[in-house]
Amino acid sequence: MKTTTAPIQLQHVAKRYRHSVAVDDVSFTVPAGCVYGLVGPNGAGKTTLIRMLLGLVRPSAGTIRLFGSPPGSAGYPAALRRTGSIIEEPALYRNATARSNLRIHRTALGLRDDPRGDDELLTTVGLAEFGDQKPRRFSQGMRQRLGLAVALVGEPRLLILDEPTNALDPVGIAGMRALFGQLASRGTTVLVCSHLLAELELMCDRVAVMSDGHLLADGSLESLLADAATLHRDSHSTQPSLEDAFLTLTNKEIR
Ligand SMILES: Nc1ncnc2c1ncn2[C@@H]1O[C@H](COP(=O)(O)OP(=O)(O)OP(=O)(O)O)[C@@H](O)[C@H]1O
Ligand SMILES: [Mg+2]
Repeated sequence: MKTTTAPIQLQHVAKRYRHSVAVDDVSFTVPAGCVYGLVGPNGAGKTTLIRMLLGLVRPSAGTIRLFGSPPGSAGYPAALRRTGSIIEEPALYRNATARSNLRIHRTALGLRDDPRGDDELLTTVGLAEFGDQKPRRFSQGMRQRLGLAVALVGEPRLLILDEPTNALDPVGIAGMRALFGQLASRGTTVLVCSHLLAELELMCDRVAVMSDGHLLADGSLESLLADAATLHRDSHSTQPSLEDAFLTLTNKEIR
């Protein structure tokens, strides 16, 4: 039987800075074809973890594998080419047109020009009429949309998105949710980090909750919500939301 290598595997990963520990002994696996939510309060270590996955920050301890290949290994550059990403702000050439941004990224991945493919991507993210305009003049949400189109160049098997929806309007958010569902049904894996818990609850199959560098919980959305229901049997007559589970796990009171 052929088994698919999990796109992301983390084992006892840590990142220590001189005066702080950003990520402490985090282990989890993101299986292929799932939409995986990574949540946690500000400073939990989510972006640091994503930077380590993408080889931008070197872990202090532990093992990271992207499609089975650790950063620095012979297979890692190919694994990175199968991965589209946005970290915090999308990396765009602000003075090149939206279409040029896609073309430049295609070239960087060693792919041939594909004007039709670029038009399709612009349509997918709702920027069909803005292909000849420059991100310099875009709103923040439009830049996020273009960042997503850039991340989708080359049909990546894995998308890693840090706060991709924060500036999107409701149409953009619903579109992104639908897109993630389509991508996952074709076997693409999506790791998405966000504070919009109601939104994540609608789009994710699995969730990891981090706080202060630690992994507090991970697993299917259903099991996380069921665990929260057990903890909160007295105060919830209905099924708890992801927000309820998050507040319980991170021990935060609503202020
Ligand atoms: N280059 C760095 N040097 C020192 N400390 C850092 C560095 N980068 C991050 N940190 C620290 O690591 C911790 C985790 O930061 P990180 O950006 O990963 O959090 P986050 O979960 O992404 O938070 P947010 O929800 O605000 O985006 C924070 O305490 C931060 O101050
Ligand atoms: Mg962050």
